[in-house]
Amino acid sequence: MLTNHDLEKMVDTNDTWIRERTGIRERRIALPGVYTSTMASAALKEALDAAGMQPGALDMIICGTVTPDMPLPATAAFVQRQIGASGNCPSFDISAACAGFIYGLSIADAFIRTGKIRTAAVIGTEMLTRFMDFEDRNTCVLFGDGAGAVVVTADHDGRGILSTHLFTDGSLTDILQIPGGGSKEPASAETVAQKRHCIQMEGREVFKVAVRYLSEAAETALSTNGKKPEDVQLVAAHQANMRILSAVSKRVSIPIERFALNLESYGNTSSASIPISLDEAVRAGRVNDNDLVLMIALGGGISWGSALIRW
Ligand code: COA
Repeated sequence: MLTNHDLEKMVDTNDTWIRERTGIRERRIALPGVYTSTMASAALKEALDAAGMQPGALDMIICGTVTPDMPLPATAAFVQRQIGASGNCPSFDISAACAGFIYGLSIADAFIRTGKIRTAAVIGTEMLTRFMDFEDRNTCVLFGDGAGAVVVTADHDGRGILSTHLFTDGSLTDILQIPGGGSKEPASAETVAQKRHCIQMEGREVFKVAVRYLSEAAETALSTNGKKPEDVQLVAAHQANMRILSAVSKRVSIPIERFALNLESYGNTSSASIPISLDEAVRAGRVNDNDLVLMIALGGGISWGSALIRW
């Protein structure tokens, strides 16, 4: 765990600024020897236990992540091996940053609807602290490590994923990036010295589009299904900043008390924040059968989306 007070000793920041500007008090940092895939596998095992299913039941494993174990192969392939799923189960990663979980959910839903598969694991798993410049106060106070997972199946009775909507605005690729280590700037002593392998963000620009796009995506999910804000029992939103969520809550007229929040304890866990907060809400008894659960997320790309679930 890394608290705001710990960060005060590392960069020119303070607990009050971080709490008031973001809502974060502390974040989790993965221990050495733990990787993006090992966190993902631990989360998926818990999801399979909760569903009463064995790894062999999975027809597909999708990992939303922009912090893979390594550029090749996919983190999902490591997960397949670690949990002992079938070798015939296609396993791949989705790169949609903080929206990776909703992108994964949408893909799983489409494969299940077309009858190509019956059961999919969708995981959000992210270890952004290993892509962090701990001398950059603009970013290092914001992020934490984590993973969450769900199992999606074809059995529903009118319950399940009602709709998903995905969006990308490629004109905004510059405001949130890890610029080095890819084909444009291959890893070299120079890219490392310049910390080009670390996350870079124009926070104010991201903030502005986040409020607008998340609200619009929430409204699209509701209007597509003929639902009103008061019909929603739980919002599992990507959590980057409490001020973003408060603004979205007001715009879409869903009280903040209906949001599943854990930003204070975990910081921004990128694609993992929705499945982690959903899991916590379910285990706390906040979600009942037939409740409407709204999911919204936005991240680098800029990519964003929404999903409406009948629980
Ligand atoms: N501690 C103390 N001061 C800090 C700081 C920190 N950790 N980080 C920035 N500041 C300073 C800035 O340097 C600036 O100082 P100046 O006015 O002297 O130039 C001041 O605080 C305000 O900076 P600004 O960037 O305008 O703050 P903000 O209110 O926009 O908050 C973020 C910054 C990053 C918290 C906020 O913009 C944010 O959350 N953006 C969206 C992030 C996000 O969603 N990212 C991922 C998408 S998944």
